Amino acid sequence: MEKLTKPKMIIMLLISIITTGYAQKVDSEFSGYIETSFIILLLLIAVTGVLFLLESQSEGRSILNLMPQLLWLKDRLTDAKPVEKEKDILLDHDYDGILELDNNLPPWWKALFYVTIVWGAIYLLWFHVFQVGNLQDAEYTEEVRIAEIEKAALLGPGAIDENNVTKLTDPIALSTGKETFLKHCAACHGRGGEGLVGPNLTDDYWIHGADIKQVFLIVKNGVPEKGMISWKSQLNPVAMQEVSSYILSLRGSNPPNQKPPEGVMVNFN
Ligand code: HEC
Repeated sequence: MEKLTKPKMIIMLLISIITTGYAQKVDSEFSGYIETSFIILLLLIAVTGVLFLLESQSEGRSILNLMPQLLWLKDRLTDAKPVEKEKDILLDHDYDGILELDNNLPPWWKALFYVTIVWGAIYLLWFHVFQVGNLQDAEYTEEVRIAEIEKAALLGPGAIDENNVTKLTDPIALSTGKETFLKHCAACHGRGGEGLVGPNLTDDYWIHGADIKQVFLIVKNGVPEKGMISWKSQLNPVAMQEVSSYILSLRGSNPPNQKPPEGVMVNFN
């Protein structure tokens, strides 16, 4: 009875480790964790359930005796002769001690097999006979078509560039801008924009100007000879607009460990 307790405790531990992750702030990088860990969680819970079932079986108070419906289900799920009775269904040959046994396949297994046949028929009709669904080639072409449209909206005529960019102020845009900043820029500009390798982005002094158009242009093209990367190949114009707006929102936030001013003082009035 005690023998299953250890695995159950390990599983409980795993479940609690995984769920502590959920207390984290939810951002885009985190959502992948939620999906995978959720599946693992379900599996662990299922395994725990099975362990509990097995344990109650081995203690002689089988859950099957408590619930006749389950007993009915169990009979439906397997009509194979149990191992103890296999000698009744041995066939009549003996090849050097190798005996042949003709037991029934479990009905659930056969049911799965029939399901695959029905599924195959549906698939054939859907994709090949009536051609309702897209096959891989068509699916690919369709995805490329949609991606082209999205790309044109971001990069084609009318897309955001340094000539028409405006400073965003809505909290959602600024918080995506913040995410981009923490991911790509904080290493050089500090987590609060206080400056590190790159200049302080929170004071009133700017090397290249503090207008949204000037900031956008620097983010887009960088200053490669001074160590500021060009971001246009990694961030789309919307992301560059958001992160530029976020940077400008940091003005006067007065983070600790600020780098001394560089460039010229900008008059913000
Ligand atoms: C590898 C280090 C590095 C990274 C990463 C980096 N920067 Fe810079 N950044 C610099 C340096 C160095 C400068 C100063 C360039 C100069 O002196 O002209 C700079 C300058 C700037 C300026 C101009 C500041 C001024 O005073 O005019 C802006 C705006 C800026 N970075 C934004 C960003 C943004 C947004 C990101 C992330 C998308 C980013 N940087 C990532 C190093 C970096």
